[in-house]
Amino acid sequence: MTSAAEWLNLLHTSGLLIASNNPHKIHELRRLLEVSGISVFSLAERGIDSDVAETAADFAGNARLKAAAAARLSGMPSLADDSGLCVDALDGAPGVYSARYGSPELDDAGRVQHLLQELEHVKMQDRQAHFHCSIVLVAAAGGPELLFEGQAHGQIAIEAAGSNGFGYDPVFIDAESGIRFSELSAAEKDRRSHRGKALRKLAAFLQNSV
Ligand code: IMP
Repeated sequence: MTSAAEWLNLLHTSGLLIASNNPHKIHELRRLLEVSGISVFSLAERGIDSDVAETAADFAGNARLKAAAAARLSGMPSLADDSGLCVDALDGAPGVYSARYGSPELDDAGRVQHLLQELEHVKMQDRQAHFHCSIVLVAAAGGPELLFEGQAHGQIAIEAAGSNGFGYDPVFIDAESGIRFSELSAAEKDRRSHRGKALRKLAAFLQNSV
């Protein structure tokens, strides 16, 4: 199965399971995919309790693990994403460890403070970073898959500010707008974010088949 028309046909027939428990991600994907006539289901709606260890070395590998586990448990085509922040001065850290950077006990604000400490002696011109998102769609466990990726480039600020968004948004200054992700509206962030870019590639792939 390689063509967009074949994928769309499968998704129209079987629906699509989103391998995430994050209501924001499920809502976003539903809004985007239901216009193509695809029925989108969450893990909770299918009564599936899936907590996959994210042991792969890269984002695409972790997204693949989550999508394959959901497909195995549900028998449905499944989609998963994995994302994180990569900081040049830290050789790409926190990367795939973004959600548990520093220590597993830290919350978002704690992880941001840990990042700022790690960059304490790094000058503004050397604080380049990017967010990365990999989205994997599998037709079935071990079956054909699609990969869509997006990146958002910027710099890590000297201190946290702004109240929108989540995670590292309060210290991520978007290169295109010069504004922190935490100071953008949800719609503006979607337009510029790694996740928005990857999602639009998926939507464009499916829409090009009609
Ligand atoms: P996951 O893809 O839900 O596993 O997210 C991994 C981690 O990367 C999150 O817990 C955040 O710390 C970070 N992250 C991913 N996307 C964003 C974003 O859009 N803004 C801020 N932090 C993010």
